[in-house]
Amino acid sequence: MIDRATIDRIQYASNIVEVVSEFVSLRRRGVNYVGLCPFHSDNSPSFYVSPAKNICKCFACGEGGTPVHFIMKHEQLTFHDALRYLAKKYHIEIEERELTAEEKLARSDRDSMLIVNSWAQRYFSTTLYEHEDGRNIGLSYFRERGFREDIIKKFQLGYSLDDRDALFRTAIKQGYKKEYLEKTGLVIAYDNGSISDRFRGRVIFPIHTLGGKVVAFGGRILKKDEKTAKYLNSPESEIYHKSNELYGIYLARQSIVKEQRCYLVEGYTDVISMHQAGIENVVASSGTALTHGQIRLIHRFTENITVLYDGDAAGIKAALRGIDLLLEEGLNVKVLLLPDGEDPDSFARKHNAEQFVNYIKGNETDFVVFKTQLLLADAGSDPVKRASLISDIIRTIAIIPDNISRLLYIKECSSMMDIDEREIVNEVGKIRKTPSDHRSPSAQPVAPQQKDVSVQTGEDLPPPVQDSPLQQSPFEKNEILLLRYAVRYGEHILDEITDEETSETIIIRVAEYIYDALTDDDMPFLNPLYHRMLKEAAEHCGDPNFISSRYFLNHSDPQVSRLAVELIDDKYQLSKYHAKFGAVKTEEEKLFQIVPQDIFNFKDAYIRYKIEDVDRRMKDIQQTGDMDEIFQLMKEKETLNTIKKELNKIIGERIIIKM
Ligand code: CTP
Ligand code: MN
Repeated sequence: MIDRATIDRIQYASNIVEVVSEFVSLRRRGVNYVGLCPFHSDNSPSFYVSPAKNICKCFACGEGGTPVHFIMKHEQLTFHDALRYLAKKYHIEIEERELTAEEKLARSDRDSMLIVNSWAQRYFSTTLYEHEDGRNIGLSYFRERGFREDIIKKFQLGYSLDDRDALFRTAIKQGYKKEYLEKTGLVIAYDNGSISDRFRGRVIFPIHTLGGKVVAFGGRILKKDEKTAKYLNSPESEIYHKSNELYGIYLARQSIVKEQRCYLVEGYTDVISMHQAGIENVVASSGTALTHGQIRLIHRFTENITVLYDGDAAGIKAALRGIDLLLEEGLNVKVLLLPDGEDPDSFARKHNAEQFVNYIKGNETDFVVFKTQLLLADAGSDPVKRASLISDIIRTIAIIPDNISRLLYIKECSSMMDIDEREIVNEVGKIRKTPSDHRSPSAQPVAPQQKDVSVQTGEDLPPPVQDSPLQQSPFEKNEILLLRYAVRYGEHILDEITDEETSETIIIRVAEYIYDALTDDDMPFLNPLYHRMLKEAAEHCGDPNFISSRYFLNHSDPQVSRLAVELIDDKYQLSKYHAKFGAVKTEEEKLFQIVPQDIFNFKDAYIRYKIEDVDRRMKDIQQTGDMDEIFQLMKEKETLNTIKKELNKIIGERIIIKM
């Protein structure tokens, strides 16, 4: 854990121009710098860096933020790891929280294992290039397979000598401990006391974590041998949990983000050959079924995944298995069948990058559609088969967590299978209502995203709890306008009033003024994220050194800080009404006018929305003719209209007095 003071120091020291320049070549333009955006395929420079604000921003794709955000996004690091990165760059010593004795022991164990692995990786690579056997056996094997030199280096491939304990002896001689060689599985210790290298006589594929640390190795035999397993892998250990790692993710992550798609293949050599063909957004599940952990790892970078399979019967079967898990996690899944008898490795070697990409583009199919077509063809006109196919497809559709995609699939499949849409909706609804142990929580029926604004005034609005960017308020624009003031000018003084009893002067700042005005009338922002930000601003705006814009730009929640960048960046222009007051630079001086006015506008929209809602419900009820309810609604409407009038009066007065 990094303490707050250190975080501040790192953020203060980090210069956006220096940080971005390491990855983007920048040119000066006026007071700013521009370059090609690293987050999307940019043809003309859209990426702006502002030394004055110490932020960067792409005007095409919208990415950007403080130096910490840039590093988080670009290097795909967590907030704290991005801070560590910058601390290193600016030679700032990090005060980490004291670890407990137990933590220290565990940590040093893990660290020692990683150190041993990193050494072993270099040892295997050196052997491949410098040892006679390495060159003659290992390197020539890779060359025969058509692996280029740069690719062999990129994947840090190696060779383990066909010698009982060559690695063990070298390691001990160089001071590495037997304990860690054993724990990492590099050597195997037998009961009789003898020790041997695990991977002897095999070519080596190191397995990297997302951050590039070597946690395991895969070793392949060179000769065809029915009796020996083709691949031998490091055992599970404190640093290697097979189900959490994906082969190739370290080298793929940036490309996955850029392409907004991840290709999933089976094996080490598939990943490597695709890189060689120029396709880098590819990872392998290493021959086993995908796990939730692996899928989430992919989901951090993209929603879109294409799974590549052999075009034979086994490949097609495999394509139908295991995909449910991907759908359940909310990914958009496509499948690609390669020509019969080909795997990505062999296909990549026969085609150049362009041909490969074209083949993918021309043949990848949406998974649900693929499955439906396949089963339809298989069932033919057999009614029993058709019935089971339909329920199979419906079960798959029911897994999809997103309401809108689910509906789209229902539409598409209803026309493909020639079944009434409503029938599928019903069936899907039934499945989703049945709690099932086989489905993960994410696949459970989800509450509607849109907030249900009921009419009774008072405690009618459920407290906003869950932050979801999807959750929008019906008067989003009004909310964002007010939030913008709180983020830009939160600490500015808006008013000073004298307490009549104590005759003390009370200073009222922008953020708390807005917050109080809304909560006093029980009209909080409906967008939970905005609500949370406004509340934070109100709570802190009285602190002596609080600067709202800085506070939010450097917020540890990326959702918050990203929004802050937008708000400070003037993406949300002043409304026409305010523009009439004069140039933008006087906005700051006019806060005492425009803030109350926009609060009024917000409340006005809020009340109006509720009145409309009452009207809507009234219409619904008129059809059933429940008079009691109609009266109830009419009463509600009356109350709302009274509030509206009051509001107009009060706000009107306030503005007139101020002007
Ligand atoms: N695998 C494994 N152990 C085995 C066989 C396979 O761990 N005994 C894993 C490896 O990660 C391998 C993947 O499953 O990469 C796919 O297996 P396969 O298709 O047989 O291997 P390829 O990667 O295609 O290797 P090659 O082309 O060298 O045969
Ligand atoms: Mn293969």
